[in-house]
Amino acid sequence: MNVLGIETSCDETAAAVVAGGRTIRSSTVHTQVAAHRPHGGVVPEVASRQHGEHLPRVIGAALAHSGLAWPDLDAVAVTYGPGLAGALLIGLAAAKALALRIDRPLIGINHLEAHLYSVFLAPGAPRFADACPLLALIASGGHTCLVRASALGAYARLGQTLDDAAGEAFDKGAKLLGLGYPGGPEVDRLAAAGRADAIRFPRTRVGLRAFTGGLDPALCFSFSGLKTALAYYLRAHPEAGRGAALPDTAAAYQEAIVDVLVGGVARALRRGRVRTVAAAGGVALNSRLRARLQALAHGAGVRLLLPPAALCADNAAMVAGLAGAGRGVSGEAAWLLDATPNLPIG
Ligand code: KG4
Ligand code: ZN
Repeated sequence: MNVLGIETSCDETAAAVVAGGRTIRSSTVHTQVAAHRPHGGVVPEVASRQHGEHLPRVIGAALAHSGLAWPDLDAVAVTYGPGLAGALLIGLAAAKALALRIDRPLIGINHLEAHLYSVFLAPGAPRFADACPLLALIASGGHTCLVRASALGAYARLGQTLDDAAGEAFDKGAKLLGLGYPGGPEVDRLAAAGRADAIRFPRTRVGLRAFTGGLDPALCFSFSGLKTALAYYLRAHPEAGRGAALPDTAAAYQEAIVDVLVGGVARALRRGRVRTVAAAGGVALNSRLRARLQALAHGAGVRLLLPPAALCADNAAMVAGLAGAGRGVSGEAAWLLDATPNLPIG
């Protein structure tokens, strides 16, 4: 089954063709970073307009690179949430129109489930069923949550951030350090030359009485205090945000974020037996997080699955792959799908 996937939930305009839920025939991503950079972050209105402008070309490129023709496609899959409402609507409208035009079924995909599925698109990845029970950390610029999967489609949300997403914490910290947008990759690069113990930033633990919507506070995250701590530190020590001191500050800040994320994964591992740990989303590109998770998984005797680098950030291969694996909203219900900005997982 050849599925064309479309992804427009945030600031990446993406289309891909995946065969049998596993084989990526093409994956085209147009990143809007240049359009949002002058504003220091994603501007929803700009994102929607950019999707409208670039999506037709991106879909055309994905089909051309796949070596297939329209009649070879068996379904059109599209992200319908979570994400920016206006941005999601562009992809959803395009997918509906396209599916009608080529007379193929439409499949609506949950963006967070697609991120989770991205680890199964790595060469040599096990079958989903063989990886379960699976503990997944999904960490991006918009989301940070811990999910336990007992089978494909059977998820329990164990914890999530109560304020900023981990990627947002990287980006906001980078902004305070005068680095460009998005700041995560810059912090990662600078931190490689710094000492993580140069400054001790706070690792916020969510209190027992915090409102978590019934989730275990020990498995929830909070990053807003860390960002504030960096702002106060830089006010007291302006030199820490400049020149030769920058790598140490970046490394210490990064270590605080990574400690909080890895701490949550470690506590979740102690809550119940799992066979596999996975990390996905843009923050899963972070080299320190990857190394720390590798060490954690090794110590716990579980396998660590990470997506290929190209599939950490938003892409449509994970959308088409998940649909090809049999997941998503299909049939009549798919035609009635609306953009769902707060669509949860689990
Ligand atoms: O998954 P993604 O492309 O988009 C969202 O769905 O949000 O994630 C983007 C986020 C940004 O916040 C970016 O700073 C962060 O991922 N990121 C990183 C790294 N590469 C991207 N954060 C830390 N280290 C990195 N190497
Ligand atoms: Zn994402």
